[in-house]
Amino acid sequence: QIVHLADYRPTDFVLERVDLTFDLHPTETKVEARLIFHRREGTDPKAPLVLDGDDLSLSGLLLDQVDVPAGQFEATAESLTVRDLPESTPFELTITTIINPEANTQLMGLYRSGGIYCTQCEAEGFRRITYFPDRPDVLAPYTVNIIADKAANPLLLSNGNFLGGAGYGEGKHFAAWFDPHPKPSYLFALVAGDLGVVEDTFVTMSDREVALKIYVEHGKEPRAAYAMDALKRSMKWDEERFGREYDLDIFMIVAVSDFNMGAMENKGLNVFNDKYVLADPEIATDADYANIEAIIAHEYFHNWTGNRITCRDWFQLCLKEGLTVYRDHEFSADQRSRPVKRIAEVRHLKSEQFPEDSGPLAHPVRPTKYREINNFYTTTVYEKGSEVTRMIATLLGRDLFKKGMDLYFDRHDGQAVTIEDFIKCFEDASGRDLTQFSLWYHQAGTPLVTASGTYDAAAKTFALSLEQMVPATPGQATKEPMHIPLRTALFAADGALLTPTSVTDAELTDDVLHLTARTQTAVFHGIPSRPVLSLNRSFSTPINLQLSQSAKDLALIARYETDHFARWQALIDLGLPNLLQAARDARQGNPITCDAAFVDALLAAANDESLEPAFRAQALALPSEADIARELGGNNDPDAIHAGRQAILALVAEAGRSVFAALYDNMQTSDPFSPDAASAGRRALRNAALTYLSQSDNAPARAKAAFDAANNMTDLSAALTILAHRFPESAEAKAALQGFHDRFAENALVIDKWLAIQAAIPGAATLERIQGLMETPLFKRTNPNRMRALVGTFAFANPTGFGRADGAGYRFLAEQILDIDQRNPQLAARILTSMRSWRLLELVRADHARSALMQIERAGSLSTDVRDIVDRILKE
Ligand code: ARG
Ligand code: ZN
Repeated sequence: QIVHLADYRPTDFVLERVDLTFDLHPTETKVEARLIFHRREGTDPKAPLVLDGDDLSLSGLLLDQVDVPAGQFEATAESLTVRDLPESTPFELTITTIINPEANTQLMGLYRSGGIYCTQCEAEGFRRITYFPDRPDVLAPYTVNIIADKAANPLLLSNGNFLGGAGYGEGKHFAAWFDPHPKPSYLFALVAGDLGVVEDTFVTMSDREVALKIYVEHGKEPRAAYAMDALKRSMKWDEERFGREYDLDIFMIVAVSDFNMGAMENKGLNVFNDKYVLADPEIATDADYANIEAIIAHEYFHNWTGNRITCRDWFQLCLKEGLTVYRDHEFSADQRSRPVKRIAEVRHLKSEQFPEDSGPLAHPVRPTKYREINNFYTTTVYEKGSEVTRMIATLLGRDLFKKGMDLYFDRHDGQAVTIEDFIKCFEDASGRDLTQFSLWYHQAGTPLVTASGTYDAAAKTFALSLEQMVPATPGQATKEPMHIPLRTALFAADGALLTPTSVTDAELTDDVLHLTARTQTAVFHGIPSRPVLSLNRSFSTPINLQLSQSAKDLALIARYETDHFARWQALIDLGLPNLLQAARDARQGNPITCDAAFVDALLAAANDESLEPAFRAQALALPSEADIARELGGNNDPDAIHAGRQAILALVAEAGRSVFAALYDNMQTSDPFSPDAASAGRRALRNAALTYLSQSDNAPARAKAAFDAANNMTDLSAALTILAHRFPESAEAKAALQGFHDRFAENALVIDKWLAIQAAIPGAATLERIQGLMETPLFKRTNPNRMRALVGTFAFANPTGFGRADGAGYRFLAEQILDIDQRNPQLAARILTSMRSWRLLELVRADHARSALMQIERAGSLSTDVRDIVDRILKE
């Protein structure tokens, strides 16, 4: 059944207070919920109270401490209805349920993993703990009492501040927590067990001392140091940049190894996938460090954008997620290199969100209907949501954006609000009408902007014609023109920036050109010579841009743009046509060539010592096979795309042999390992050089030497990837894989990397390799990280292996999805989205893909999660 935004209405009853008592037991945990309600003014005095449940059974119900007679209530697994409640006075309901954390394989609600009790309640997991008005607009202060066996669970944690604890007899003890900040149930958390801790403190801007604690498995405490450092930097940054101060005496993070997502922002008690907490040079790559920093920040920032101000309903998810991703992006940009961070964001947006937005799962940033809310934690809600927030900042400028954010925090603190409330704050702060702009929240699909320029030497004008088209998406056949802010610059032939004397027929503020009509021609006056156009600088708007520019113009941008993102984009634009043509040629069996202009520009960037190494590494990373497939747009043959891309790599490698050899030597350092961005950039550039060198060596020796010499996980896994992907059958690759396995056999997070590297080996043989790995004892079906490492990587990141021509990869996925769905529907549905672009495949593969999807669709007992995805993916 489908939930519609239009059906929203407030609850009939207001929840005043929540008092929970957990008597923890691995298979029979008793939960007593004391809830104080009163009937909302103006609602029907006879209306019953209906509470949500999921897989629950009621074992006790009291109204004001008296048993409720059988005729007055009705309890099913999905709901509890109580009638004849007081018309105007508050009343207390005491609800008792018994739940089984050990049997909870969905990892939603209260579950037990590795001896640790923990919870995940967003979006609708709290209703698996007790009957409750489980929706984000019901806010109340919580008291939580936890009783548990003391020896097994020395640690008893929940949200808010610690009230006290004591012995409880029979080897048990208890602890009480109080969270004074009214919160919705999805932010509830409980953790109990035996964990080690890393402690620190933070002094806030108003001089309050906050205790910081990160809980990890015993023995892993040193690996939480980087996360702690990132947390303190996040707290400081949010004070300085957004004026946001932390609001409890204690902030806790718990790392668990079985977790469906990255992390969760429960009030005062964040729960993390341990992958995003634990790091040291031996086990973590530079990408891991960057992710940890970003996710620690993200969850911390939710304290204001999500927790203090939350969502009225789940349609408003982007209110907290889009905004918080924007905030964590800005944080990382300030902590690291802004242009390099922007390049990474855009790469991610294009490879994950663009395919979603152009396929069967496309939906608006603020959807209006859903069948399963868990399927809307998407890159559209998160990443496009962040881009939309960024565009508001671009339209308003830094100061007015800040003013709007201040107004938002001021006006809505303690409330559950909507996107309309959010936008209104920026309208009120700036006086700008954002009606047309807000279409970004409501219209799905990536807009296509077609641009062309004409220079009039006599008039000294440059006319830029722009046309926008928003493609049809499921449920949205026609679209209105959007407000598209395009950062724009013009350059002279010598690379100097040209400043127009005026611009007519379009608004230009600073370098932001406002495209608001379907077609529009902006005229730049006072342009002394034919300019080179740089459009959508820093990717100011998430669009597809069609603009044909000569290789010479692109090379000029790649060399002189002051916006380094635009330089990178120009290099990509130079390279992409070569990769597309190579794919076509490979398919036809034609010889493959590559433009010298592209190779020259790429090698010039690689060699340019005025550029940061991290940027140069980004320039050398060619668009992925998935990127090429998307640009080709249909009838795709993954083998031809792979072969074409490999051929281009080889041509660049050959032309750049000496450049890469020099870089490989020069980027080496004898300094001790440091995870900072500059050092990471040097490693990235060195490993990019190694990738090219191994391509032209056509032998594994150099990569094997790098593998043997590596003193950190970044270099080690880069070398292992080259060996396994480029020379999978070599003795060197086999020895390296075995050595890596033996060295890290005890470390689950590193074994996940080992599995993921193998799952991504190109070619048809990988499926059998994966099936073999699944037979070994290290394969744990119940662990989401492990499933994502092996099955997820194969389906999302191995176009030739997964998409092998006989369809065996798709059939394998169908079997896995059906199996995972029995235990963990959210995980199954997430991995299944890897099929979202199946219609872009050539006919034979598309047919195999369709059959596999239909095999899933026909299965008897699908979860709503998987049912929703498979139905949408198959729909015409
Ligand atoms: N709110 C969490 C975060 O972005 C993610 C929760 C994901 N929940 C889900 N049901 N998929 O930090
Ligand atoms: Zn979030």
